[in-house]
Amino acid sequence: MRPVIDIRHIHRVFETDAGYAHVLHDISLSVSPGEFVAVTGPSGSGKSTLMNILGCLDTPTEGVYLLEGLDVAQLTDDELAEVRAERIGFVFQSFNLLPRMSVLDNVMLPLAYADCPRSRRERLAVHALRAAGLPVDHFDHRIGELSGGQMQRVAIARALVNDPAIILADEPTGNLDTATGRAVLDSFHRLQEEEKTIVLITHDPGIAAEADRIVTIRDGRLYHDGTATGSLEREASAIAPAGGQLPIQQKGARS
Ligand SMILES: Nc1ncnc2c1ncn2[C@@H]1O[C@H](COP(=O)(O)OP(=O)(O)O)[C@@H](O)[C@H]1O
Ligand SMILES: [Mg+2]
Repeated sequence: MRPVIDIRHIHRVFETDAGYAHVLHDISLSVSPGEFVAVTGPSGSGKSTLMNILGCLDTPTEGVYLLEGLDVAQLTDDELAEVRAERIGFVFQSFNLLPRMSVLDNVMLPLAYADCPRSRRERLAVHALRAAGLPVDHFDHRIGELSGGQMQRVAIARALVNDPAIILADEPTGNLDTATGRAVLDSFHRLQEEEKTIVLITHDPGIAAEADRIVTIRDGRLYHDGTATGSLEREASAIAPAGGQLPIQQKGARS
């Protein structure tokens, strides 16, 4: 199956007053449709820099990025903007919501420029909010009245409203307590059931373990790329005959 995300030998060098900062070194990564990948690594290791490249918010200094088979470097700015708007949903640590507007209006925002009447925008926003797990009686609340976990669900709904194939999330549970973070993680599991491809940056090993695959970045290098043990255990327990041996299958390797 053609990968959704396919980066090959990516480097990112920033030019700063202090000289060149070589932040990403020779990173190659391929993500299959429907895969849920967690990216972990210490602060400053280059995770957000990588995410910005995956989301076409930044371009690599060297290397190739094929997004759904398209060579991103060959796209015009307009084409890139279209890819970002239609194919990718972003979720950030800081939610990036408009606090005085209602939940529904925030989620409808990405649809504002599309040729899309309000009734349809509302319908899509309600659908996305349900998928993100926000209670219906909160849809007309202002953002400022919500808890952090509820805000993140709204942000996830906003990322979903265009029905993008790819969800990119940079520390989406970073501002939430552990219990709330885990609840937000449920939304990502639900997205995976809808066959979205998910790349989620997280510091939290417990959250990373729920992905199909964990990619670890250290000092801008791909340090480890492997199947998450938590997901293997979950899957094994789901298919294990009582008291029997576990036939373990690699989820990431499905054909
Ligand atoms: N625009 C930039 N210019 C210069 N250095 C940058 C820029 N963006 C990020 N960096 C540097 O790249 C390194 C990795 O940053 P980042 O990708 O944000 O790491 P992480 O998300 O893993 O914490 C840091 O040392 C950071 O200072
Ligand atoms: Mg970061």
